[in-house]
Amino acid sequence: MKVLVVGGGGREHAIAYKAALSENVEKVYCAVGNGGTALENKCINVELTKIDEICDFAEKEKIDITIVGPEAYLEAGIVDEFKKRGLRIFGPSKEAARLETSKAYAKYFMNKYGIKTAKCEVFDDYDSALDYAKNSTYPIVIKADGLAAGKGVVICRNFNEAQKTLKEFMIEDILKGSGKKVIIEEYLEGVEATILSITDGNVIIPFISSKDHKTIYEGNIGPNTGGMGVIAPNPYCSKEVLEDFESNILNPTLLGIQNEKLDYCGIIYFGIMITKKGVYLLEYNVRMGDPETQALLPLLKTDFIKLINSSIDKKLKDVKIEWIDGASCCIVASSKGYPGKYETGYEIKIEDNIKGKVFIAGATFLNGKLITSGGRVLSIVALGEDIEKARKTAYEEIKKIEFDGMYYRKDIGA
Ligand code: AMP
Ligand code: GLY
Repeated sequence: MKVLVVGGGGREHAIAYKAALSENVEKVYCAVGNGGTALENKCINVELTKIDEICDFAEKEKIDITIVGPEAYLEAGIVDEFKKRGLRIFGPSKEAARLETSKAYAKYFMNKYGIKTAKCEVFDDYDSALDYAKNSTYPIVIKADGLAAGKGVVICRNFNEAQKTLKEFMIEDILKGSGKKVIIEEYLEGVEATILSITDGNVIIPFISSKDHKTIYEGNIGPNTGGMGVIAPNPYCSKEVLEDFESNILNPTLLGIQNEKLDYCGIIYFGIMITKKGVYLLEYNVRMGDPETQALLPLLKTDFIKLINSSIDKKLKDVKIEWIDGASCCIVASSKGYPGKYETGYEIKIEDNIKGKVFIAGATFLNGKLITSGGRVLSIVALGEDIEKARKTAYEEIKKIEFDGMYYRKDIGA
């Protein structure tokens, strides 16, 4: 089989690596891939970014399965275009992708199907939003409706902060359209977890739970990033939490997908908050998480490509997903200055005897060297019998990696 992976971050390196391990896979093309996929067994990078070019390539090369990483392609309708041409692709349609690409739609869907979530109001008019903020009890959470690369959610402690956020989103339009409509939401206190799952529209099968670490500094302080590390499973996801999640979030989500006739074979990412009043859904993403994917895929025992094929063929109900018995720890190394301004162009040195798996995110392979090119540069993933053992190995092994300005959090999974 020939597989095509769309995207070029750490998540896509992990997807390509796992696809290449599948016994029936002969070649994995990555559009555009990165320095990691350039060096990965069976993988070849192709310089294609436009949907019609990617489609043409899949047609010409007789690609058996295309797997989409980033949400922007799903929003732009890559799945619809592939299906129109009779090509096999793993991901939700543009319409189904609205569960991530419009937070207002996602909240409408959650409320319609009785999915437990924070109370909210939607506004597309600044004055009404401001009025509502004036009469709110704080904190409140203001969310831009559209995609905002992690910059669209602000927790406001008082009216001044709310006013500033509303002005920036709705009037100054700093999110280029995505913040013209906002959601103002009740603040929930608790611990967060991510549950990725796979669906074919008939069933949704949850993966192992995980825990992202979003802020740049230790102790969960500082600005949010794309994710600085992940442990899996999430120690807060007890049996009771998972049962609560299945009955109040996962099952009604499936019902909603079916009732709304959403064309959905792909990954559903549930971002949940575990509170004293039970489990709430914060958000859906309609794709794999980054860096959750890097932590989870090395634990997956079931053949990844066979699993994706079962989803596309709507045969997931016959599948039992198997996982390695143990835990995973993924530590992200970033460029100095990230998530603000940062420099690139530094050589990455990795010792040959490194254990665990290194996934490259923001680096290119140039003249025989890996050179930094992004904010989040790479991650190391180690497995262990439990979280403590996995994180111990990950922290030992990351010392074998070096580049100028390399930064990582010392408390992933602590
Ligand atoms: P979202 O993109 O909706 O997941 O929001 C991004 C982050 O904002 C989440 O991971 C939470 O840390 C935080 N957040 C979102 N909604 C709420 C809420 N209602 N209460 C508290 N924190 C929230
Ligand atoms: N790690 C968070 C995300 O992928 O959205």
